[in-house]
Amino acid sequence: MEHPRLLNMALTRIGLAGLAVMGQNLALNIAEKGFPISVYNRTTSKVDETVERAKVEGNLPVYGFHDPASFVNSIQKPRVIIMLVKAGAPVDQTIATLSAHLEKGDCIIDGGNEWYENTERREKAMAELGLLYLGMGVSGGEEGARNGPSLMPGGSYEAYKYIEDILLKVAAQVPDSGPCVTYIGKGGSGNFVKMVHNGIEYGDMQLIAEAYDVLKSVGKLTNDELQHVFSEWNKGELLSFLIEITADIFGVKDDKGDGHLVDKVLDKTGMKGTGKWTVQQAAELSVAAPTIAASLDSRFLSGLKEERVEAAKVFQSGGFSDVFESKPVDKAKLIDDVRQALYASKICSYAQGMNLIRTKSTEKGWDLKLGELARIWKGGCIIRAIFLDRIKKAYDRNPELSNLLVDPEFAKEILDRQSAWRRVVCLAINHGISTPGMSTSLAYFDTYRRERVPANLVQAQRDYFGAHTYERVDMPGSFHTEWFKIAKQSKI
Ligand SMILES: *[C@@H]1O[C@H](CO)[C@@H](O)[C@H](O)[C@H]1NC(C)=O
Repeated sequence: MEHPRLLNMALTRIGLAGLAVMGQNLALNIAEKGFPISVYNRTTSKVDETVERAKVEGNLPVYGFHDPASFVNSIQKPRVIIMLVKAGAPVDQTIATLSAHLEKGDCIIDGGNEWYENTERREKAMAELGLLYLGMGVSGGEEGARNGPSLMPGGSYEAYKYIEDILLKVAAQVPDSGPCVTYIGKGGSGNFVKMVHNGIEYGDMQLIAEAYDVLKSVGKLTNDELQHVFSEWNKGELLSFLIEITADIFGVKDDKGDGHLVDKVLDKTGMKGTGKWTVQQAAELSVAAPTIAASLDSRFLSGLKEERVEAAKVFQSGGFSDVFESKPVDKAKLIDDVRQALYASKICSYAQGMNLIRTKSTEKGWDLKLGELARIWKGGCIIRAIFLDRIKKAYDRNPELSNLLVDPEFAKEILDRQSAWRRVVCLAINHGISTPGMSTSLAYFDTYRRERVPANLVQAQRDYFGAHTYERVDMPGSFHTEWFKIAKQSKI
């Protein structure tokens, strides 16, 4: 059944199916940019809700449909429909519903956090029907969807070209670097890049949480002081959405009791899966991503709240706290050190994420442009930060850069901060405060920067018990030694 108001209307430019908050907001954003849009959801109340919002938020050209046939037929050809439904089976269902009414040359775009291989499978199946397909990462949460997200479309280039004009206007706009959208690449590359974006987001959040923990637990900063510190940090090199919202959080009072709300929030982190996928992919591709992995592990451990409560009783008298707690800390110095540790760790985390993307790009032949990715993450998305401009410039200087750490500017920044970074990690360790993100980032740096690591011993062990052979530093070839025999002889 069509909405009565919409009889005899002209065809719309685009359609959107799946009207949970993200879908509603993206539809309203598209309409606001001057593109008439048709919207559909199986639950018809969602359709009416969206049309009502469009009216209230400025008579935006949003047209609602209660059945898929009239929805599809209301869109100009070649038709483009964005889907914003839960990843997995609901996507397949929605595709089946819509494609029954689509014609050759029409296109479906999945805007969800989908596993990239599912997108590649669907793109192939759609191609057999003469339909085009895009997997488009959308970042920025509900607010971003409404006012300008970062968009990562991958798949059919032809389909991207149909709607490029829309995406360029709908995406977040960053002065000097343009709209936060670019054609990512073929196949599932848009989903893959969005997945790693989320992994990097896990890392950023973990590192910020560790900075908070050190300042609170060792520095004894109050929430008001923390709010001030994070606000100050947000004026400098750490300027970013996540630092900004962190400052805001420390300012919120509990509306159900005394004190600050942050202290009442249960210390158990939820997750949806993209962080886990990132770590799985890193392992699959043999790319070290320890900061992102540490963030994931920290979420797993946070989930063991009841066990931690019990363990805290067992280990109450650690001994270290008495030794250190009496020592006064220089607050101003600690704050400055933690800021530097956070920044240096962040460089390592982004280096890992970028390397993961580059390795996948090589494997799949996607030809991804890392500098462009940094550019479209500068606005709209959750990891948006002034820091991303530095990453873009590093890849502009050298598109073949093997690791962000060795870009001359980042290398200098790391060197300038490494003393502070080491002080913070030592301090945390001595106080029994875990800083897995910062510690493992430092270990990543310390491993990467060393010409010789103890892998020679691991190789010797492997050759000893498994005859796996080893290479030598002083001559080419593959060698095996009867370590056991020689060792036995020399013992006698
Ligand atoms: C419609 O709305 C429901 C509930 O919000 C949701 O579960 C469903 O996936 C939506 N999408 C479509 C295309 O029907």
